[in-house]
Amino acid sequence: MRNKVILTGDSPTGNLHIGHYFGSIKKRIKYQKKNKLFIIIADNQAFSNKRSISSINRNVLSIVIEYLAIGIKARYSNIFLQSKIPELSVFNTIFLNFVNYNFLLKNPTIKNEISIKKNDKNLGFVTYPVSQAADILSFKADYTIVGKDQTSIIEQVNIIANRINRFFDFSFFKKCKIIKGRKDIILGIYGRNKMSKSLNNSIDFRMNREFLSKTVRKIFTDPNRIHKNQKGNHKNNMVFKYLSLLNYFDIDNLKKKYSKGYISDLSVKKILEEELFFFINPIRKKILEYEKNLDYILEVIKNGTKVSRNLVIKTLESFKNKIGFNFF
Ligand code: TRP
Repeated sequence: MRNKVILTGDSPTGNLHIGHYFGSIKKRIKYQKKNKLFIIIADNQAFSNKRSISSINRNVLSIVIEYLAIGIKARYSNIFLQSKIPELSVFNTIFLNFVNYNFLLKNPTIKNEISIKKNDKNLGFVTYPVSQAADILSFKADYTIVGKDQTSIIEQVNIIANRINRFFDFSFFKKCKIIKGRKDIILGIYGRNKMSKSLNNSIDFRMNREFLSKTVRKIFTDPNRIHKNQKGNHKNNMVFKYLSLLNYFDIDNLKKKYSKGYISDLSVKKILEEELFFFINPIRKKILEYEKNLDYILEVIKNGTKVSRNLVIKTLESFKNKIGFNFF
C-alpha cells in the first residue's frame, strides 16, 4: 500500500497500553512511511466524557510522547489536535442534519460505552460517530486504522457519507476502508472487558517493573486451577493470550506443560512478566526522555495541526462551493 491517506487517532483519556499497540498503533507504524498518515488527538471527543479540561490537556501531551516513544515518526506523520481545527466542527454541524438519534443509539460501541463506563447520554458523546465522520471525511481518507471496538463507528461514518452523497447527488465523500489492527478485541487482565484505562485492567507502557509485576500477578488465568500440579486450561487464559500477542517463542511447549500440570501459574506469570518488561521497558525509557523536552512535543503537535488544518480548510471550501452553501 502506497500514497494512501490514512486518518486514525485516539481520544486523549489516559495512558497508552498494549491494547492500543496491538489494536492499532503497530499498523500505524507499519504504514507511516509510504502513505500519508494523519493522527488525530480527539480532545473534543474526550470532553464528552466530562473529564476536566486540565486532565485532557495533560493527556494530549502524554499521548503524543507515547506515540513517539512507541515508534510513530514525526517526519512521516501529522499528529494533530482536533480542537485546533474548528472547521471540523463546521463539518460536524452540517453532518448532524443527516443523522437520526436512534441510529446513533443503536451503535453497539456506543451502547457498550454507555453501560460499562457509565457515560451519560450527553449529545456530545452520543454523536461522536458524527464528529468522527467529520474527522475522516474532511481528509477524504482512504483508510482508517482502528481497533475492533471502533469498527461499528466507522461503518456509521460510511453510512453518513453515503447519505450526504445521495442527498446532493454527487460522490464528494469516499468510502473509508478499515485496516484492523487485529481480528479480535484485546481483553484486559481480568479477561472480561476490552483493555481500557478507565476499567483499570490495562498493561501500560509507563509501568515500571514493580507496577508491572503487581499487574501481572492480578491477571486472570484458569479459575478452576487451585493447585499448581493440577492440569490447567490455557484457553481463555489471559497469560497465554498475552504471551501469544508478544510472539513468545516457546508458547506451544509452555501450553503443553501447563495443560499437563507441570508448571505453576506463578511460573508462567514470571515468564510473561519478563517478556512484557523486555517489550515495555525501552519504550518507557524513551517516554521519560521525551518528557524532558515538552517544547519539542508541542512543536510536533503544532506542525501536524498546521498541515492538517490546511487540508481540512480546502475540503470544507470545496464542499460548501459544491453544495452552494456560500452566501458570500
Ligand atoms: N473515536 C476514537 C477513539 O475513541 C478516536 C477518533 C476520533 C478517531 N476521530 C477519529 C479514530 C477518526 C479514527 C479516525 O479512540
